[in-house]
Amino acid sequence: MSRFEGKKVLVTGAGRGFGRVLALAFANEGADVVVHYNSSSAGAEETAKEIRALGRKAVTVQGNIASYAEVQAITETAFSEFGHIDVLVNNVGDMALNQTSWRELDEKVVDHTLAVDVKGTMFMIHEVGSRMIEGDAPGGSIVNIGSQVVIAGSPRAPQYAAAKYGVIGLTKSYARALAPKVRVNTLGAAFMETEALKNRHDWTHGRREQVLAQTPLGRIATPEDMVPPTLFLAAEDSRHMTGQFLLCNGGLAMVGA
Ligand SMILES: NC(=O)c1ccc[n+]([C@@H]2O[C@H](COP(=O)([O-])OP(=O)(O)OC[C@H]3O[C@@H](n4cnc5c(N)ncnc54)[C@H](OP(=O)(O)O)[C@@H]3O)[C@@H](O)[C@H]2O)c1
Repeated sequence: MSRFEGKKVLVTGAGRGFGRVLALAFANEGADVVVHYNSSSAGAEETAKEIRALGRKAVTVQGNIASYAEVQAITETAFSEFGHIDVLVNNVGDMALNQTSWRELDEKVVDHTLAVDVKGTMFMIHEVGSRMIEGDAPGGSIVNIGSQVVIAGSPRAPQYAAAKYGVIGLTKSYARALAPKVRVNTLGAAFMETEALKNRHDWTHGRREQVLAQTPLGRIATPEDMVPPTLFLAAEDSRHMTGQFLLCNGGLAMVGA
């Protein structure tokens, strides 16, 4: 399938983890990709190299999305390199990985999570979205990577849950602001075994087994499991959806007998 033939896609945080897997998946379906990263420059170059090996264009761009000026620079690079952007995936997220309990209240950690996940995602939607609807720009789709935490909360890092709730607010607000040219939706991932999760302290100390036991489908997602629903929200397949939250969690959030 080549749903993104000739399309221009910007994936944030594509130097590692889920963003890297996503960037390659878009290229596999025909897209040219702007590979954004913050600190993973080697990973971003490797992602770009693999995209070019598929016969697609790739450019890398660095920036801290919690800074409005840096988001403006990222956007400028993306549009000047590719002319327009059809799809933005806001994959960047700070999960407060070193925090193991709500009891570890650290103001800097809280501020950081909120700055990256809420402010950063907002800046990205705002800047890229504004240009996606400008003049005769073709419009397109924005997909935010959200989380199961908006269903279940996070006693480990409550600010992470608050931040991902914030992303839902941004999704609904910008879905209305940018309509009808641009759709904005959020994918809700549950536990997805990226290196970040695999290395998390609680994950290696019993949490994995606990989650597995509570997941009706009896498996933990790989990043590759989350690719099809993300590409669905990015593609024409979801053309009548905007402002929505699509949960993909192996049934983990189900309640009842
Ligand atoms: N893994 C899970 O279990 C899980 C579950 C639900 C939802 N999610 C969501 O899925 C997304 C990806 O998760 P992941 O496991 O792949 O995460 P990850 O491995 O921790 O990667 C985080 C990404 O965010 C980027 N980043 C962090 N702070 C940044 C900043 N200030 N400015 C720009 N980029 C920044 C990092 O870039 P650099 O490396 O270049 O610095 C990296 O690419 C996140 O939004 C996360 O909340 C993950």
